[in-house]
Amino acid sequence: MNRRNFLTGTVATVAALAAPPARPLPFRTEVSLKKLAAEKSLKVSTAYNGGGHFDLEALILHHCDIVTPENALKPGFLAPKRTINFAFERMDGTASFCRANGLRLHGHTLYWHQTQPAWLNDAGNSSFVRDYMSYAGQVMPRYGDLIDSWDVINEPFSDRKAGYRKNPVLDVHGDEFVRFLFRTARRAAPKAKLLINDYSLSCGAAYCQRKRDTALATVERLLKAGMSIDGVGLQAHLAPTQPVHKTPLSSFICGLNDLGLEVFITELDVNDIELPENIAKRDKLIAAIYKDYLGAVLEHDNVKRLGFWGLSDAEHWIVHGYAPFKRKRGTPRPALFDDRYRPKPAFFAVAEALNQAPART
Ligand code: G3I
Repeated sequence: MNRRNFLTGTVATVAALAAPPARPLPFRTEVSLKKLAAEKSLKVSTAYNGGGHFDLEALILHHCDIVTPENALKPGFLAPKRTINFAFERMDGTASFCRANGLRLHGHTLYWHQTQPAWLNDAGNSSFVRDYMSYAGQVMPRYGDLIDSWDVINEPFSDRKAGYRKNPVLDVHGDEFVRFLFRTARRAAPKAKLLINDYSLSCGAAYCQRKRDTALATVERLLKAGMSIDGVGLQAHLAPTQPVHKTPLSSFICGLNDLGLEVFITELDVNDIELPENIAKRDKLIAAIYKDYLGAVLEHDNVKRLGFWGLSDAEHWIVHGYAPFKRKRGTPRPALFDDRYRPKPAFFAVAEALNQAPART
């Protein structure tokens, strides 16, 4: 090969690497959620469990800016036992997919009581602080080039009372533990937006209001203590049995705005377990839930991200992953696309909500 051919070849290779060929969508949907969202200064994310699902990845590329690893960045997944070698393979695969395609990552999560390994859940242990800092130091910078944001702590607030939930560290150490996590996260991921992420922040019931009050009071206290917190994640696992009330939700988002905080919808989906079996009827009701929710939330300037907990029913935790969510008849249809990646009424409802959202800064 002469020099000219070599250079031409190299340029062609670099160009091919820089711009991977567009993947064919399983079904033609010219509408792209990330394009609609960009017109309103919003980013779109989805949970993805990795593993190279071709059709799902095509949908992600067409509709999303950011991927949230569904399980692969959880401490219990990466490091169930205290060891030098963490289980990075699945996460590295997702990171390569993102890198090759210009997608960003949302880190989920530095601490979650539900999947926390014992060795990172005992603040009474003399090596706990050192262990956690070393864990964060190994995990967070590894994907630093891709990371936009982190759920520093996931689901810290109690369902039953004001304040933190009862668990081995929060119950004993409260703010002190959360401050430690944020300091550790800031050191290991200096440029990332750092969030507290929780569920039951959207509904109209008294327990949701109590959680909103707790969340607002907690972040205010932590900010006053000098913590570098950027925002709050609204998981938004919606269900017709827990209807959203716009007024209290709006005043919560405004309260966060007054504190200078951003809001990220992080895990949006609709649990249709209680909805009728008829698919046409059910899909219409699900679509209305998505639309009403986004109508209430997207009017706020400080809401910066629209994140789904999965795009398709084919790989969705409500369909496959969680025994109590089995429907009596029929299969759940919680996502925007069905199990063959065809857009459902919910997809068009979300697109419409994005179109109707006011322009934002
Ligand atoms: O991969 C193993 C498989 O090898 C094994 O055969 C199978 C047997 O149970 O388990 C598989 O792992 C499961 C994993 O999902 C992958 O499907 C775990 O048991 C299961 O616990 C895990 O569930 C995840 C759950 O969090 C707990 O980590 C769901 O996928 C995930 O969608 C869910 O996500 C949470 C967010 O992190 C926080 N907010 C709520 C949301 C929904 O529960």
